[in-house]
Amino acid sequence: MTLPRRVRIVEVGPRDGLQNEPVTVSTAVKVELIERLLAAGLASIEVGSFVSPAWVPQMADTRAVLARLPPNPHGRYAVLVPNLKGFEAAQEAGAGEVEVFASASEAFSRANINCSIAESLERFAPVADAARAAGIPVRGYVSCVLGCPYEGAVAPQAVAGVARRLVELGCYEVSLGDTIGAGTPDQARACVAAVAAAIPPERIALHCHDTGGLALANIRACLDLGVSVVDAAVAGLGGCPYAADATGNVATEAVAAALDGLGIATGVDPVRLAEAGRFITGALARARADAEQDAGTG
Ligand code: HMG
Ligand code: MG
Repeated sequence: MTLPRRVRIVEVGPRDGLQNEPVTVSTAVKVELIERLLAAGLASIEVGSFVSPAWVPQMADTRAVLARLPPNPHGRYAVLVPNLKGFEAAQEAGAGEVEVFASASEAFSRANINCSIAESLERFAPVADAARAAGIPVRGYVSCVLGCPYEGAVAPQAVAGVARRLVELGCYEVSLGDTIGAGTPDQARACVAAVAAAIPPERIALHCHDTGGLALANIRACLDLGVSVVDAAVAGLGGCPYAADATGNVATEAVAAALDGLGIATGVDPVRLAEAGRFITGALARARADAEQDAGTG
């Protein structure tokens, strides 16, 4: 297969990035970041999650973020939901898309959403039914596709099985998460090839954390397997609260530049994207400095 002519970048920084920051930025900063990302040409943006605020307090204001965002003319604002309670909150808040998140490893499933893989898939069934009835598209995630922080190696067939089930439930796309950024190009290719035998390759997205510095190489290794959707976070923000060593997602700036170098269109304006990156890194630096000052004087 040849390289795709166009790749859709799914911007996950406002969710996957900010969920893992030790400091929480204000709702106003989140909204301005998302507006800047929109202006940079990113139409698919993950803006938050409706999960337990006891588990991920950084995302507790997702309803307020959605309420303050302008309409998204070219794409959708997506939010993560772990169960029906989360879906109902997302629907009420006017989310354009919901995302359910499963794991290919049992131990990570327990650590992240406090249930087994099978239980998580059972929980997603009523979410998918309700979303279908409401006309809200559902995207699925599989975490730990190239390794688990607790179990180590993960078999491509395990990933393919969960991906197939997510599509059967009604997910229009399945994003394959290298949660701990441990994969290599050959492993990424083997995993995507196994998943592409289970679901149509045009439904596969790649979600690479960049712990090992190989995220771009891993993405490049899969682009001729029919994959044309790549998740990325502005300024490489991110990590996962339940995978201690995971660093941020691959930077949107790097993905857009690398794809441009391959002659693959993304619709992203690199100057505006860089401005969005400077905006959020500046806001995070100020929030960290304020937190340090409070700790010092408190
Ligand atoms: P649990 O404790 O088993 O849930 O957590 P529960 O059903 O027993 O309920 C406990 C409490 O949580 C109750 O409140 C519920 O109402 C509340 P209480 O009665 O004690 O006051 N609750 C909720 N509150 C708000 N929104 C909800 C919700 N559901 C229950 N939706 C649960 C289970 C799934 C809720 C919890 O484990 C959780 O919220 N986990 C989220 C973890 C998370 O967000 N992780 C990061 C995102 S995943 C990721 O980053 C990976 C990804 O990027 C891909 C990759 O890189 O691989 C996507
Ligand atoms: Mg992630």
